[in-house]
Amino acid sequence: MAETASGNKALFVEEPLIFEQGDDATSGVDLPAPPTVKNRLGGLEREGRIGLPGLAEPEVVRHYLRLSQRNYSIDGGFYPLGSCTMKYNPRLNEKMARLKGLGDLHPLQPMSTVQGALELIDTLAHWLKVLTGMPAVAMTPAAGAHGELTGLMTIRAAHEDRGDARKRVLVPESAHGTNPASAAACGYEVDPVPANDRGRVDLAALKAKLGPDVAALMLTNPNTCGLFETDILEIAAAVHGAGAYFYCDGANLNAIVGRVRPGDLGIDCMHMNLHKTFSTPHGGGGPGSGPVVLSAPLAPFAPLPYVVHGAEGFRLVEHYTESDAKPFGRVKGFHGQFGVFVRALAYMMSMGADGLRQVAEDAVLNANYLLARLSGDLTPSFEGPCMHEALFDDRFLKDTGVSTLDFAKALIDEGFHPMTMYFPLVVHGAMLMEPTETESKGTLDAYIASVKALAARAKAGEADYFHQAPVHSPRRRLDETAAARKPVLRWAK
Ligand SMILES: Cc1ncc(COP(=O)(O)O)c(C=O)c1O
Repeated sequence: MAETASGNKALFVEEPLIFEQGDDATSGVDLPAPPTVKNRLGGLEREGRIGLPGLAEPEVVRHYLRLSQRNYSIDGGFYPLGSCTMKYNPRLNEKMARLKGLGDLHPLQPMSTVQGALELIDTLAHWLKVLTGMPAVAMTPAAGAHGELTGLMTIRAAHEDRGDARKRVLVPESAHGTNPASAAACGYEVDPVPANDRGRVDLAALKAKLGPDVAALMLTNPNTCGLFETDILEIAAAVHGAGAYFYCDGANLNAIVGRVRPGDLGIDCMHMNLHKTFSTPHGGGGPGSGPVVLSAPLAPFAPLPYVVHGAEGFRLVEHYTESDAKPFGRVKGFHGQFGVFVRALAYMMSMGADGLRQVAEDAVLNANYLLARLSGDLTPSFEGPCMHEALFDDRFLKDTGVSTLDFAKALIDEGFHPMTMYFPLVVHGAMLMEPTETESKGTLDAYIASVKALAARAKAGEADYFHQAPVHSPRRRLDETAAARKPVLRWAK
């Protein structure tokens, strides 16, 4: 392909860094020179230039607009990432979060002036407890992984309160990487539990690992193979029999919300990712929200602060002395991610109980549609229907010279974000696809057509096509190892 003189590809403009576009000797605006007043800032005047590029307003606007267009987003196209649940964020949520009375609050306002906001947090907490069948919830964690850490700190506080300091946390091999990381960050020894050939936890292996030094089991249900843990009641009984707590990674609640109450399954502690189940935007692990529901034995150890409702109205409990509770501390400043709470509650209220149940049903239906339509072309990892995500492995690529990575890169040329690759680790060359309930049959059919066409090309011996891919993206294959190991996060001349 001949290069253009500009380096641009049609209306796709190459975007240098803003520092490379302007220089600090040029100004994009035409202001009169400031009067020369001596010692105007009491000796604090700048002595030299600060190195910011001078650009005209349209240049700045275009730069940031073009950068924003580099993001593949859920508003821009289908995003079948399994385990990450990239689901559409309804505009209604955004509208509610921007209402002046909600968007312009300050966390240090006196409580009497934010009664409505506290009521909103309390109402959301109430519905999270009702939907999960659990008596308490810690609202402040800022992401799923942060919720895991909070849950484990609560568990540790409960064990220590009994004078029973335990050392090990059992984590199934199929767990999301954040589970073992959170357990290790909390100071626990992580002990992996193998999966059986049905993609579920190996019950016998789990029972063999349980003992008086086990603080908790961290189980994901539905798990990251997209399967419901059918032995969950027996698992809960075995965990409790060993004096341990049953932690559930509830990131996949979107598959069961309104249909199954985790509290009925014997779970003691479970975080939810509001972005995955309740349609709030993803927050890169930061400005998201991962509330943790707790069973009665764990509830007294929940972190501060929390909202209570009494005769005097709504109140934020911020100090240890308030009751006989034994909070282990705090995990976040202020009340938690209020803007995310508004969005999640707006979603819940617009869906209603029936609507939320349908969310789970449609998410499972869509995933099974993908599974059924692609099973003849790709290799499903396990027999039978799935929950909210469909898992395939790379057996269908055997002897083609095409890897899971190549296949995913070719999907980019088709205009789709790749599925999750090489996770979960329990199958070889995993391709995990999660359509979510918000995608239409038309979108799924277009995706299926592309995946089928690629599978046919791979089997027809067109390995070179895959090794070149992607050819239509602004960048081709990036050095992902160098990006992870030697990140260059700062521009320097
Ligand atoms: C199963 C599971 N657990 C935990 C997490 C971590 O959540 P977060 O990204 O909000 O920290 C995720 C995120 O996708 C997940 O899929």
